[in-house]
Amino acid sequence: MKILITGGAGFIGSHVVRRFVFNYPDYQIYNLDALTYAGNLENLRDVEGEANYNFIKGNINHADFIKELFGIHRFAGVIHLAAESHVDRSINEPLEFARTNILGTMNLLNEFKRLWSSNWEGKKFYHISTDEVYGSLGSTGFFTEESPYEPNSPYSASKAASDHFVRAYGETYGLPYVISNCSNNYGPNHFPEKLIPLFINNIINNKPLPVYGDGNYTRDWLYVEDHARAIDFVFHKGGCMETYNIGGFNEWKNIDLVMELCSQMDNKLGRAKGSSEKLITFVKDRPGHDLRYAIDATKINEELGWSPSVTFEEGLSKTIDWYLENTDWLAHVTSGEYTKYYKKQYHS
Ligand code: NAD
Ligand code: TYD
Repeated sequence: MKILITGGAGFIGSHVVRRFVFNYPDYQIYNLDALTYAGNLENLRDVEGEANYNFIKGNINHADFIKELFGIHRFAGVIHLAAESHVDRSINEPLEFARTNILGTMNLLNEFKRLWSSNWEGKKFYHISTDEVYGSLGSTGFFTEESPYEPNSPYSASKAASDHFVRAYGETYGLPYVISNCSNNYGPNHFPEKLIPLFINNIINNKPLPVYGDGNYTRDWLYVEDHARAIDFVFHKGGCMETYNIGGFNEWKNIDLVMELCSQMDNKLGRAKGSSEKLITFVKDRPGHDLRYAIDATKINEELGWSPSVTFEEGLSKTIDWYLENTDWLAHVTSGEYTKYYKKQYHS
């Protein structure tokens, strides 16, 4: 069985590719990735020699290329992760997000449909999405699979639109899809534009830690390997035309998380207690900033038997250790384009 994984050189995608390559030797895994600033083949060095792993550099936005690719390989399964994924970038470049996240997804849907609409048997199109499509929670409650879509950022709006197209292709053409909406991930290989890896990198370099607004925003954090395992469960056991919410049962206010990170970093770097904390700087808030995300993951737990296996304490410690051990990776991804992005975003 040939399986296409898009965005496999990115943060979550690289963990999914690794899991599928090592756990399913009977599958041929094709990792399609445009290698944007967020894609990095260094994330897959341990996988690239495997007989069932194939890398294709290419862009999901190029319809002709996607048509040719599906014609050659006739993928029976697609696990679609390729996306523009950072909210702050989406505020500056919304069109880029519409192109990749909406039109790129449609190119994949169109070719999957063209190939298999006369025989959907045994085929699956798995779309990886985010809890951000549901908008923002107040101080109580959880997102369930029935929560209404209320995206607030160009990123979440583009992901919501792509979810709708996937669902519509299911209703209209019978395309066998499954969607999962996951909470914030963290772990190794996370690009240092997102909160946790950005702050780890800044603490290492004694740079300010830019906390948006008052820091009282809440996210539900999940270790990336637990997400990859959930994706494995949904791909193999998830129902057709179903949606699953995936979350960490692990809510943290940003400021509390940053304090915890500072304390662990002081310990690991052998710095005086309280020294990283001094780097915290409250900066101008993100426009349209969602107050709180929290997932009710009962459905995937009860129907597929998935629950997170890594505690936050353990996951954060493993994550910090990975960044401290992989200074070459960090140096590589923070050179070039990153410097320009950083200056523009943080005026420093
Ligand atoms: P990422 O930004 O780290 O990786 C995205 C990957 O997609 C990169 O390798 C990039 O090169 C590739 N890509 C981007 N545009 C492309 C294009 N036009 N054609 C081909 N490849 C392209 O993202 P991530 O954090 O790993 O997220 C992966 C998926 O999971 C996304 O769909 C995202 O919306 C979703 N998601 C992420 C989180 C999270 O916390 N990071 C949570 C829930 C859902
Ligand atoms: P982020 O990692 O960008 O994920 P998302 O916006 O998709 O949830 O941000 C997580 C939280 O951290 C969010 O509330 C915004 C906040 N944040 C900061 O306070 N400072 C920063 O520099 C970044 C990148 C995020």
